[in-house]
Amino acid sequence: MALSRRVRSISPSSTLALTALAKQMQAEGIDVISFAGGEPDFDTPKHAREAGVQAIREGFTRYTAVAGTEQLRDAVVAKLKRDNGLEYARDEVIASAGSKQVLYNLAMVLFDKRDEIIIPVPYWVTYPEQVRLAAATPVFVSTAEEEGFRLKRRDVERVLTPRTKALILNSPCNPTGAVIETEELKAIAELAVEREFYLVSDEAYETLTFDDIKHVSIASLGEEVKARTFVVGSVSKTYAMTGWRVGYAAGPKEVIKAMIDLQSHSTSAPTSISQKAAVAALLGSQEAVEAMRAEFERRRHHLLEHLGRIPGVTCVPPQGAFYAFPNVSAFYGKRTGPRGRKINSSTDLVGYLIREARVTAVPGADFGSDKHLRLSYCLSMEQIREGLERMGRALEQLR
Ligand SMILES: Cc1ncc(COP(=O)(O)O)c(C=O)c1O
Repeated sequence: MALSRRVRSISPSSTLALTALAKQMQAEGIDVISFAGGEPDFDTPKHAREAGVQAIREGFTRYTAVAGTEQLRDAVVAKLKRDNGLEYARDEVIASAGSKQVLYNLAMVLFDKRDEIIIPVPYWVTYPEQVRLAAATPVFVSTAEEEGFRLKRRDVERVLTPRTKALILNSPCNPTGAVIETEELKAIAELAVEREFYLVSDEAYETLTFDDIKHVSIASLGEEVKARTFVVGSVSKTYAMTGWRVGYAAGPKEVIKAMIDLQSHSTSAPTSISQKAAVAALLGSQEAVEAMRAEFERRRHHLLEHLGRIPGVTCVPPQGAFYAFPNVSAFYGKRTGPRGRKINSSTDLVGYLIREARVTAVPGADFGSDKHLRLSYCLSMEQIREGLERMGRALEQLR
């Protein structure tokens, strides 16, 4: 079968593939602990679930406006004002089937052949692929592990060219949990204004920050930077609503309008029922959000403590999201036994850990950093402890 050149240039999402593998092993009765997932293990708050049920009961089950209902777009406007100090009008907002769809729409309407899109490394697996699907060129810029993987203005400056169209920001970051300091955000905002490139600010993990760090949306740092920023958000991680598929973007009207036009020929509006649930989540009590954040903070502490007991593993403490990104390169070059296979990469190590320890993680290579593994802590305290003990025992056997 002759597949299109477009799709031949991308690879499938490794995180989804590993999550599926872990689920399959669990279904076969294998006791596997998965650090590979990317979704909260909590229930969607009751009031949001109820709003979905009520939508079905009331027969709110037809197509809605392509950009989302007025009620949902207004709820997003209200949320951006309440939480981020941002003022938008309804027609500067679009809702889609998750923020992944929003980002895809944005890539398709904003990026073109010969455009360079700066992506800080380590990155969420989807950004480079969406940039390639749009026929643009991803330009990778490393962040330093010694600096907690926090992006600096000088990193961006190094790779700027006249063809730079946009910079993708993701703070808090998947996979590192890094949160960009406000001073650097200001410096990056000034650079974007000076050098006239756009900012795509993926804020999917905005409510998950630790150690009293507060999330700041780069768009809130002034009217000039706001005019070149697309703020992307989602109900997925904030409200444990990954399966409902609702995300949104806010930004300059002209581009939002193009995204709506594109969406009108691809997915149309997000699910009507999910939109009702998303409105309830965004406007209702935010108590569950803080409860989940606090629980993730406890889990992070627990994970770092147990990770710290594994000789050879080092880990920059994540400041947000629900991932840790430990450096495991000390094990490269070691063998799984006297005649065993050599571990040469994060992918080799993940394969070994699944076989030997019944523990899954995602290879750092998938995020552009082969020295690391991504561990998600969307697990109970007990699973975190047990999983890391297993991992520690398996790593100890490497010679
Ligand atoms: C950084 C980041 N952005 C966006 C998404 C997409 O989330 P959703 O499409 O569920 O809104 C994810 C999901 O893993 C993510 O990690």
